[in-house]
Amino acid sequence: MKVLVIGGGGREHALIWGLARSPSVTSLHAAPGNAGIARLATCHAVGADDIEAVVRLADELDADLTVVGPEAPLVAGLADALTQHGRTVFGPSAAAARIEGSKAFAKHILYKENLPTALGGSFVDHELAIGFFDDELHGRAVIKADGLAAGKGVVVAHDRETAVRAIEDCLLKGVFGDAGSTVVVEQLLEGQEISAFALVDGETVVPLGLSQDHKRIGDGDTGPNTGGMGAFAPLPFVAPAVEAGIWEQIVAPAARRMAQEGAYFRGLLFTGLMLTEEGPKVLEFNARFGDPETAVVIPRLDADLAELLLATARGELSAVSTPSFRTDAALTVVMASGGYPGAYATGVPIDGLPGAAAVEGVTVFHAGTAERDDRVVTAGGRVLAVTASGQTLAQARDRAYRAVSLIRFDGMQYRHDIAAAAAEGNL
Ligand code: AMP
Ligand code: GLY
Repeated sequence: MKVLVIGGGGREHALIWGLARSPSVTSLHAAPGNAGIARLATCHAVGADDIEAVVRLADELDADLTVVGPEAPLVAGLADALTQHGRTVFGPSAAAARIEGSKAFAKHILYKENLPTALGGSFVDHELAIGFFDDELHGRAVIKADGLAAGKGVVVAHDRETAVRAIEDCLLKGVFGDAGSTVVVEQLLEGQEISAFALVDGETVVPLGLSQDHKRIGDGDTGPNTGGMGAFAPLPFVAPAVEAGIWEQIVAPAARRMAQEGAYFRGLLFTGLMLTEEGPKVLEFNARFGDPETAVVIPRLDADLAELLLATARGELSAVSTPSFRTDAALTVVMASGGYPGAYATGVPIDGLPGAAAVEGVTVFHAGTAERDDRVVTAGGRVLAVTASGQTLAQARDRAYRAVSLIRFDGMQYRHDIAAAAAEGNL
């Protein structure tokens, strides 16, 4: 099977690493890829958002399967365009990607199925939004721009002033442009936040496991939100019955409801949940693999990844046998550029990669790198996802941080506490 992967981050490197180990894969291509991906796949200088160019590339290569990594091209209709050209694609149509691209649509699916989620409402009128906050939410809320806002459209408000300002920023000041023309105002949930990944083709749900991300830039969950600074799996603090409930009582009904509404989902459905005292509640859905969670989910999968993605793309998941998972733990530490998640430099040389990769159990996924004059240099905010497997979470953690300590680039920053509490049994 000839596979083309769209994207060039840590998620795509982890997917390509998994595909490279799939017996059914004969050739691997990426667009645009990065310096790490280039060791496993032929990279093409085509941007993930250039729908016409991606379709042309898939046609030229005559790819048997095109796997779309990021959300923006999915929301913009890349999967539809590829399908119209007769290509087999892993990733949902624009209609189904609204589950991520429109928070109001996600809430609609949740309410229709009566699924556990934060109490909330969608508003285009700021006075109604503020009225809802005052009447229902007891002085604390989360305010979200409806559309895709690159992770910046969410404000956690612990007081009325912050909530009102966030509502006005969206609806009156247009801070998020069209993405903020509708605002979602919802109850603030507390607990452990987790990521649930499942392959979905309409009716059939094949779980790929739970993991936990670390979204803030700083140790102890301080500082601004990022795309994700590290992750681990499995989650020792989630009981098997709770996990089963997530797949059977939340993810499966959500997928079924989407299919009933003509938004047939075919790809990876990523459910973000808060484990509250009242049980798991849905925070959000994403229409694609998470980053960096993919770095810890794929290495634990003991199955032919390409076959699974192809079966999803063809709508044949119900015929696939349940994949096995390794009992090993996996952990990834993201190394980021100085300044991230704000402005940062690129083109900074990275040292120590071969030594890090030689640490037992370690794989270094590239998130934002490029090759220049035979050197690997930084090319993004998140630069590397240094990933380790181990018999225990503590062992995976030791190995990952040993590898991190061997890598150097000017300005680098990373969190020192990925899975710290979980590895010590403190969660
Ligand atoms: P979203 O874009 O909906 O995923 O929100 C981004 C982040 O904001 C989530 O990953 C959570 O950390 C946080 N968040 C979103 N909704 C809530 C909520 N209702 N209660 C607490 N935190 C939330
Ligand atoms: N790590 C969270 C995300 O991919 O959205």
